Amino acid sequence: MRNICVIGVGYVGLVTGTAFSDLGNKVTAVDINEERIKNLKQAIMPIYEPGLKEVVERNMATGRLNLSTSYEEGLKDAEFVFICVGTPQGVDGEADLQYVRFAVEEIARAMDHELIIINKSTVPVGTGDWVANIVKETQTKPIDFHVVSCPEFLREGSAVKDFFNPDRIVLGSTDRDAADQVAQLHLALRAPIVVTDLRTAEMIKYASNAFLATKISFINEIANICEALGADVKEVASGMGYDTRIGNRFLDAGVGYGGSCFPKDVQALAYMAQVHGTHPQLLEAVMQINEIQRKRVVLKLEEIWGSVKGKTVGLLGLAFKENTDDMRESPAISIGDYLNGRGAIVRGYDPVAMEEAAKIMPYLTCAEDAYALANDADAIIVLTPWNEFKQLDMTRFKDLMREPVLIDGRNIYLPEELRELGFTYRGVGRGYDGQQLKQATE
Ligand SMILES: NC(=O)c1ccc[n+]([C@@H]2O[C@H](COP(=O)([O-])OP(=O)(O)OC[C@H]3O[C@@H](n4cnc5c(N)ncnc54)[C@H](O)[C@@H]3O)[C@@H](O)[C@H]2O)c1
Repeated sequence: MRNICVIGVGYVGLVTGTAFSDLGNKVTAVDINEERIKNLKQAIMPIYEPGLKEVVERNMATGRLNLSTSYEEGLKDAEFVFICVGTPQGVDGEADLQYVRFAVEEIARAMDHELIIINKSTVPVGTGDWVANIVKETQTKPIDFHVVSCPEFLREGSAVKDFFNPDRIVLGSTDRDAADQVAQLHLALRAPIVVTDLRTAEMIKYASNAFLATKISFINEIANICEALGADVKEVASGMGYDTRIGNRFLDAGVGYGGSCFPKDVQALAYMAQVHGTHPQLLEAVMQINEIQRKRVVLKLEEIWGSVKGKTVGLLGLAFKENTDDMRESPAISIGDYLNGRGAIVRGYDPVAMEEAAKIMPYLTCAEDAYALANDADAIIVLTPWNEFKQLDMTRFKDLMREPVLIDGRNIYLPEELRELGFTYRGVGRGYDGQQLKQATE
């Protein structure tokens, strides 16, 4: 049993801390948000993450998982401290390190014995060295410490499962022994462990996210070409995905990527490249395609109606992906803003993200369920591929609508089935649509 402190109890920190305690370690998770800690002590989760509550409750009951707002309490007897605080986008596209700085200063002040400081937050290349300097400058007396980078690759919506079944663990450090000790913590996960230097580990995280975002923008570009040429991108992606050099994941055409990681991480990598005199041409194209992709669903409505002014448009799904309540950089926000700015009446429904969405999108009228959203709507745009949306009674859904226009931003329905039911259906890259379809069949 090792003694671990985790700083930050958001998506990454709470999952990391809980999972390490489940592996038999003693963990104290520290957060400056007093309400979060108070609620967690009563097993009230700050985030929606499938399976998390059960593991938190189980480990709190054994006494292996403790929660605190005090760094001193968290670091008492700790051998390892994981930094898991947010690194949001800064004003110029760079990663904002204010939360990391605060956490590092607090660690430096509170530590009273040798410690391995592990950075799990996604941070710019070079941050490991910066962290070491801050600790040295802030310590009241010199105490040995080592900095290790251990970037996180979990996905929201399956974070607990991902933690226990990682594809790989990446560790970077200038101190091989410290990296080996952190590797030992992960041995039970039976994953390949890549040990490298600090900067390379930090870069692996950005390069991985940028690659996945590139795959999404690539398939969206192919989707747009498919639409113009009459091919079906779903089948194109499936035909491509069998090629093991390509793989079938992250090849779903739709409204583009969102969430707390891809948008800010691609932007931050492009920023780092520019600052260091490199032109990130591909990354810029990835971001541009993603931006345009969101607007395209609204353009499809304008193609049908001329204008969305005065029309009631329902957003089916608001979270950036299924199985999460995370609204950070969700495509629903820019699509809702765009519709609202053009005079549409915007409604929304999401099984778990509605409360959060309403705070960000003040013009949004929330519906009780998917059918209430359809009631008297002029159009529905599917934005999150929740399973419950795939099982709807689409005849009832259509009958409730004022006009049966459905823009399937996540390609969850079969175009021919919905057209047969009488919907004006537009997917993303699903062969010829509308006018083009008519022309092609004439
Ligand atoms: N969310 C993901 O899917 C994911 C995946 C991989 C990596 N990451 C990276 O992990 C990091 C954390 O992301 P997240 O989504 O868990 O963030 P989050 O916003 O969900 O959680 C951050 C937590 O840190 C707390 N916090 C902030 N400053 C603090 C401080 N000084 N001391 C103690 N607690 C503090 C906040 O109160 C909050 O509870 C980011 O760098 C992110 O890029 C996130």
